[in-house]
Amino acid sequence: MNVRGRAMRTIWPAADGRTVEIIDQTRLPHELAIVELETLDDAARAIATMQVRGAPLIGAAAAYGMALAAAEDPSDNAIETAMSKLAATRPTAVNLRWALTEMRRALSEVPESRRFAAATVRAGEIADADVAINHAIGEHGAGLIIEAWRCKGRAGRVEVLTHCNAGWLATVDWGTALAPVYRAHNEGIPIHVWVDETRPRNQGASLTAWELGEHGVPHTVIVDNAGGHLMREGLVDLCIVGTDRTTAGGDVANKIGTYLKALAARDNDIPFYVALPSPTIDWEIESSAAIPIERRDAGEVTHIEGWTEEGRRVTVRLTPAHSPAANYAFDVTPARLVSALITERGICPASSEGLLELFPERRRRVVRE
Ligand code: MRU
Repeated sequence: MNVRGRAMRTIWPAADGRTVEIIDQTRLPHELAIVELETLDDAARAIATMQVRGAPLIGAAAAYGMALAAAEDPSDNAIETAMSKLAATRPTAVNLRWALTEMRRALSEVPESRRFAAATVRAGEIADADVAINHAIGEHGAGLIIEAWRCKGRAGRVEVLTHCNAGWLATVDWGTALAPVYRAHNEGIPIHVWVDETRPRNQGASLTAWELGEHGVPHTVIVDNAGGHLMREGLVDLCIVGTDRTTAGGDVANKIGTYLKALAARDNDIPFYVALPSPTIDWEIESSAAIPIERRDAGEVTHIEGWTEEGRRVTVRLTPAHSPAANYAFDVTPARLVSALITERGICPASSEGLLELFPERRRRVVRE
């Protein structure tokens, strides 16, 4: 997407052909800082500290992390150690495991002397595929927004509510939940986005608001608890969110608070859509009980970070010094509350049958004796 007139992705190989560059998302929206990742440790730290975040981008960053690891030591042992290190950075987004498995396969097919080159090529392919997938999600999802506008008699604007950041910053480019928004906006459909601030890391307030603003999409930041009220007031036409892991049965893990929005949407007969690239589907699990829910440092709840008007980064405490805090980073929205899944292959019901219609190669063959 364009930032101040310049086309940018969130991650790309540096001009030296060896290292990788990223947008440091911990500094947005106040500063557009580019950071260089030179080592496997740099890549692991960038994912764990959320300099890069969002399920598809975590996958791409892990893929580039494996290339950096192969440059340091391409031996089988070192590659396995690198995989374990990257896999341990964040537990919920299944794209991480998917990308690491892809990289291990690509590396196992070539001798040690060619592993860095092979890893660089495969990581680039994973990044490019993410862009193409999200572009297709945008095309399919925009149809839903255009349909909502038609239902409103092409009057006013389509009101979309989104949670967290599932825009281009959460992917390599385009985004998942926001790809349909960008596509519809580019086609001239009048659209406005309600942006949940998304405590405690505030991905909505800092990242979604920033990228929508850069692209010129009208939006309003709201506190996390406002969505239900807006829905009751008839101010939301549809919700679109992303996901970090969708089970084979269509249950959806996403940023904490997504479930409450889905409940409010159901109570108000508002469609609740989830946009996802296929590497976010965990075909190995049917039940959401098996999804590991990340628990992050309680300090993200007890403290909040911001920037003074003079541009100084400050952290302040919100809670009493001795009150314990818990930081659950994701929740699960059961498939029954999801109106449809938007994938690169089209739109389907949130169910195993729905997913298998779009991805028939995943049907398990029943072998008869
Ligand atoms: O903790 P984060 O910022 O990595 O969480 C991101 C989300 O929950 C997104 O909604 C999800 O990864 C989908 S991104 C296209």
